[in-house]
Amino acid sequence: MGETTNIFETHFANQQTVFLDRNAISPHFMPNKFPFREKQIHEISQIFSTNLNQKKSDNLFLYGKTGTGKTSVTRLVLRQLLEFAGKQNLPINGTYINCRNHNSKYRVLSKVVKELFPEENFLGYSAAFIYDKVMDGVNKKKTNYLIVLDEIDKVKDLDDLVYALTRSNDELENGSVSVVGISNNVFFKERLDPRTKSSLCQHEMIFPPYNAEELNKILDERAELAFKPKAIEESAINLAAAFAAKESGDARTAVMLLLKAGELADKKQETSVQDVHVQKAKKKVEEELILNMIATLPKHQQLLLHTIASLSMHKKSQQRITGTIEELPLFSGEIYEEYAKNARNVKEQPVSARWYREYISELEMFGLILTAASGHGIRGNTRLIRLSFDAKKIKEALEKQFENA
Ligand SMILES: Nc1ncnc2c1ncn2[C@@H]1O[C@H](COP(=O)(O)OP(=O)(O)O)[C@@H](O)[C@H]1O
Ligand SMILES: [Mg+2]
Repeated sequence: MGETTNIFETHFANQQTVFLDRNAISPHFMPNKFPFREKQIHEISQIFSTNLNQKKSDNLFLYGKTGTGKTSVTRLVLRQLLEFAGKQNLPINGTYINCRNHNSKYRVLSKVVKELFPEENFLGYSAAFIYDKVMDGVNKKKTNYLIVLDEIDKVKDLDDLVYALTRSNDELENGSVSVVGISNNVFFKERLDPRTKSSLCQHEMIFPPYNAEELNKILDERAELAFKPKAIEESAINLAAAFAAKESGDARTAVMLLLKAGELADKKQETSVQDVHVQKAKKKVEEELILNMIATLPKHQQLLLHTIASLSMHKKSQQRITGTIEELPLFSGEIYEEYAKNARNVKEQPVSARWYREYISELEMFGLILTAASGHGIRGNTRLIRLSFDAKKIKEALEKQFENA
C-alpha cells in the first residue's frame, strides 16, 4: 500500500471551528469547580466525613430542578471522599447509581453486589440471596458503604429498598450502609411513605435554580475552556444565560445552548459565535427541555398528561370537521374520567380526585398546561385545561417513556 491520503483528512483540515475543547461544553463534562454550590458541597462533605471516623453517616436527600448541579456536585464529593479514604487506608466504599437504569430494589442491589464482588457473577440469583451477599461483603470488608441513588423517584419499590438498606445497619456486625437519594422532582419528597421519608431524609438539602447572573458566571468559565480566544461574543453568552434563567434556572440548558450555538457557527463556517446562533440554538433546546421535564414526572402524571394530549388531539380533529377555529379547552372532569380509564387499562390504580387536582396544579406549575376557571354557565363551575405545547409531540415523547419503562 502506497501513501494514500485518508479521505477524511482534507475534509478535517479544511474545517474551521470555534471550539478549542468541545468536550468542556458538553453536559457530561465534569468541571472541578462549582461556583454557587459552595454551601452544598460543604454540607455534603460534612455529612460524608462521619465515615472517616468509621461511623455510619446520616442518610441524605437532595432535591431541586434539573440542571441545578445535584448529580455533578454529589459525584465530585463522593469521588474526593473515596480518593482521600484510599490514600489514608480507610475502609470506605461508595457507589453512584442512576435509578433511571436501575429502577428496582433488585437492580440496585445487583449493582451494589457487583461493586463488592467484581469477579463474581450474580445473574439470576434471588433478591434475598443478593441482599445477603451485600451484607456479607460489607461485613467482611468492615466498610462504611455510601450508596448514591440518583433519580431515586424512578425506583418502583422504593419503600422496600429504603427499608432493606436502613434495616441492614441493625444486622451488620461491622461497617455500615448509608443512602444518598437525589431527585429532580421537587414534589417527590412530599409523596414518600412517612417511614421511608424519615429514614431517607435524616438530612435534606435543596439545590435552588440559578439566576441569570450566576449562569453568566458559570458559562463564562466554561466558554473559556471550550472556545478559542475571541471565538464567542460576550453578548452571546449573556443571551444564553438570560434565556436559561428565564426558562428554568438550569445550568444544563445554558451549557447546551452554547454547545449548539457553537455547532451552528461551525456549520456556517463562521469564526465566532454570535447572538443569532444562540437564538437559533434556543429553538432546538426548548424542545429538549420539555422532553426532559416529561421524563422527570411520576408515572401517574405522565399518564395524566398523555390523556390530556390525546384528548386535545381528538378535539382538534373534531373541530376541523365542524369547521370551528377557536381552540377548545378541556374540562377537568372529562380529563379525570378518561385518565382513570387509561390508568386501569395499563393495570394502574387511578389516583383519587384530590390527588388528581394536586397533579393538575403541579403540571401547571411546570408550565406544561394552562388552567382557568370556567366562570358560570359552562357546566357549573369547572376548571378548563389546555396543553401548553404541541399535543402530538408531547404524546409521542410520553409514549417513548412508556416503552422504556
Ligand atoms: N455551579 C455550577 N458550575 C458549573 N457547572 C455547573 C454548575 N451547576 C451545574 N453545572 C453543569 O450543569 C450541568 C447539569 O448539572 P447536573 O449536576 O447534571 O444537574 P442535576 O443533576 O441537578 O440535573 C452539568 O454539565 C454541570 O457540569
Ligand atoms: Mg442529575
